[in-house]
Amino acid sequence: MTYQRIGAIKTVAEFRELLDGLGLELPVDDHPLSAVEGSPLAQPLQVDDFTVGNRWCVHPMEGWDGTTDGQPSEHTIRRWQHFGQSGCKLIWGGEAFAVTHEGRANPNQLCYSKENVESMRQLLHTLEDAHRERFGANATDDLLVGLQLTHSGRFCRPNSKTQLEPRIAYHHPLLDPKFGIEPADDSVLLTDDDLKHLTDAYVDSARMARDVGFRFVDVKACHGYLMHEFLSAFDRPGPYGGDILGRTRFLRETIDAVRSECPELMIGVRLSVFDRPPYHPDPALTGGGKFGPGIPGETTGLDYPGFGCLRNNPLIIDLTEPIRVIRMLADEHGVSLFNISCGSPYYNPHIQRPAFYPPSDGYQPPEDPLIGCVRQINTVNDLKQALPDIPLVGTAYSYFQEYLPHVAQAVVRAGWVDSVGIGRLVLSDWELPAKVLAGDDYRAAKKICRTFSDCTTAPRNGIISGCFPLDEYYKDSPEAEQLKQAKASLREKLSTDVR
Ligand SMILES: Cc1cc2nc3c(=O)[nH]c(=O)nc-3n(C[C@H](O)[C@H](O)[C@H](O)COP(=O)(O)O)c2cc1C
Ligand code: SF4
Repeated sequence: MTYQRIGAIKTVAEFRELLDGLGLELPVDDHPLSAVEGSPLAQPLQVDDFTVGNRWCVHPMEGWDGTTDGQPSEHTIRRWQHFGQSGCKLIWGGEAFAVTHEGRANPNQLCYSKENVESMRQLLHTLEDAHRERFGANATDDLLVGLQLTHSGRFCRPNSKTQLEPRIAYHHPLLDPKFGIEPADDSVLLTDDDLKHLTDAYVDSARMARDVGFRFVDVKACHGYLMHEFLSAFDRPGPYGGDILGRTRFLRETIDAVRSECPELMIGVRLSVFDRPPYHPDPALTGGGKFGPGIPGETTGLDYPGFGCLRNNPLIIDLTEPIRVIRMLADEHGVSLFNISCGSPYYNPHIQRPAFYPPSDGYQPPEDPLIGCVRQINTVNDLKQALPDIPLVGTAYSYFQEYLPHVAQAVVRAGWVDSVGIGRLVLSDWELPAKVLAGDDYRAAKKICRTFSDCTTAPRNGIISGCFPLDEYYKDSPEAEQLKQAKASLREKLSTDVR
């Protein structure tokens, strides 16, 4: 199946026609506005008593490029400098920071230890200095920077890039076989006691974040990682599973513990508000150097354990519980802001980060990627209508490419979302928000992310992440050659697969 490439669309009218043709309703402005022209994206956003300078946000973007003891490397530092230069006034988390070594998603993920505190302070200062250098001496007064705290749960690989060392909330009927977990192996299940220790680890990291100067921490609950997995632990016996209070208990206890130890810190939650079953390439259409389009795993007859979707048909979104959870976290647990995401990059990447080209462990997009973007935007709009007083950041805007500013300012003006987050785009063209707000030509540099997925394919093959196609720093690196080889051997493997 082929889809219209966004880069080939010449006018806003054509872009609107494409959306119409796909049956998608989305506000799109004729022209991007600068701050001086009154762009909705230049409006401040109030989060508790902090005034965030504008409506652009940098999503957390990790690089699989820290040192093995969990400190930032020169690549990490460069990326955080770019976050500071982006012009975005909300820096959501920087990147996933593991609260324990065992909870790391890869042996190069940043992680907590007493020895790493100073390097995290330096990393934050690098970002803030870059922001001040670019935007003026007082520019950090309205810059809100948080640190994303995580435990990777089912997707832990703390010691080897190729060896999963899962710690799970419950045995999952489709994810266990997909990721090599024996259904009878209870050694990988976290006990209630383990969770108490993990909550302490979140508090240690939060204390560090506060001491080095972060204004908030994100207690990450998305993308299939541990805190997110608990939200669908319907069948876990005991206090941390079952009904919605049980399934959110680990998250709520952790937030409460962080708040009580660090009352000065604001708390955010990045939340996957709907799950989908794992997808795999259609075997009948795989071959000739290419994966087939993605098809969902079979869930007929299962009471599927998903959050934000119907249990008897997990392809259908149901926001009843996500709305209840967000309201409860905000009103009863003092969570100040939410970053809305969905799905998981490991088993349904087209849902979570719509792309024209799939990552190496993916499948061809089963739908026009625009459908995936608009699904996320509509979902945030639905949440916004139900929760008008709670600040929400939206996700999946990079795929709009040239038309990202047109969509972003229109949805903020329409009140569909409070802040527009950018993920992949910030790797390829980190100054785009600043250029848009200044009224400069944001297309001239020709660095707009085309969703080639190399930044995902590289780490899937044990290589550091980065924008290999468009950022000279990576384009000319030795890792670019490794990536080329990894992609070539995948193509060869797929060519020999029987259709
Ligand atoms: C290379 C890469 C690294 C990422 N790292 C993180 C991360 O550390 N934490 C997180 O919550 N999401 C992470 N994400 C997901 C992004 O924050 C974002 O949700 C996703 O890319 C979709 O937004 P986009 O369409 O603007 O790229 C990552 C995505 C990519 C491609
Ligand atoms: S490698 Fe670059 S162009 Fe490709 S998806 Fe990542 S950021 Fe975008």
